Amino acid sequence: MKAIVVGASSGIGEALARVLARNGYEVGLAARRGELLERLAGEFETKSYIKIIDVTQYAEAMARLEELIREMGDVDLIVINSGVGYKSDRLEFENQKKTIDVNVSGFVAMAVVAYNYFLTRKKGHIVGISSIAAVRGSGGSPSYNASKAFEYNYMQGLRSRAWHDKVPIAITAIQPGYVETPLLQGAKNLFWMASAQDAAEQIFDAIRKKRKQAYITRRWRLIAWLMRVAPDWMYFRIR
Ligand SMILES: NC(=O)c1ccc[n+]([C@@H]2O[C@H](COP(=O)([O-])OP(=O)(O)OC[C@H]3O[C@@H](n4cnc5c(N)ncnc54)[C@H](OP(=O)(O)O)[C@@H]3O)[C@@H](O)[C@H]2O)c1
Repeated sequence: MKAIVVGASSGIGEALARVLARNGYEVGLAARRGELLERLAGEFETKSYIKIIDVTQYAEAMARLEELIREMGDVDLIVINSGVGYKSDRLEFENQKKTIDVNVSGFVAMAVVAYNYFLTRKKGHIVGISSIAAVRGSGGSPSYNASKAFEYNYMQGLRSRAWHDKVPIAITAIQPGYVETPLLQGAKNLFWMASAQDAAEQIFDAIRKKRKQAYITRRWRLIAWLMRVAPDWMYFRIR
């Protein structure tokens, strides 16, 4: 089996690439920081491939993902994990836009290549790392939560599209709660934090079962429910 992880240089993507390699996958590692990808690839017993991709250089990123697929020969699974998030007291356009560039436009650039490839191949599996943040807007990071809701909704669209195209392309939307990674460095009031390793094991389980959706860790389903039902006066207290 062969898999690509976009955003494999740290955190959840790095841990998931390790789990995939340990389970016999040849893994294609993509991100901007090539030296981290090289180091990770050096750990694997299975064959690995490296591609420098900045998902915000849209045309080039799409060409590079296509190139990686060609180099690997045949790919069963593409995980779109690349993502950024910023929390700021002052609402600033720059970091809001950066979030959209990576989590929305960059996500779509990768998803379009993945979907069209699997359409030609007549089967495949796309996994997108959305977030529990997709459930409801956040005052601290409005752009982040909105981008994760976009990803989640986009994947629903791809699932419907695959059904119309009559091609078995599985789409799995992953919704992690807090996971200990560089993304959360300096963040306060965190709870139920999973290690990247534990998160990756549960994501792999969802991949094996071709789940449509999975909360990571599982108990975050309860938080998702609370986020949905909490009245504004209660929900707004959390930033
Ligand atoms: N940690 C959490 O609690 C949590 C919770 C819910 C969802 N998530 C989601 O999980 C995913 C992974 O995040 P993480 O927590 O593991 O954070 P992380 O350690 O910061 O990893 C982010 C990954 O995205 C890549 N990336 C960022 N910008 C990129 C770009 N322009 N082009 C290509 N790759 C890019 C990074 O690689 P380079 O910098 O080398 O390019 C890195 O590999 C994100 O989508 C995040 O939103 C995380």
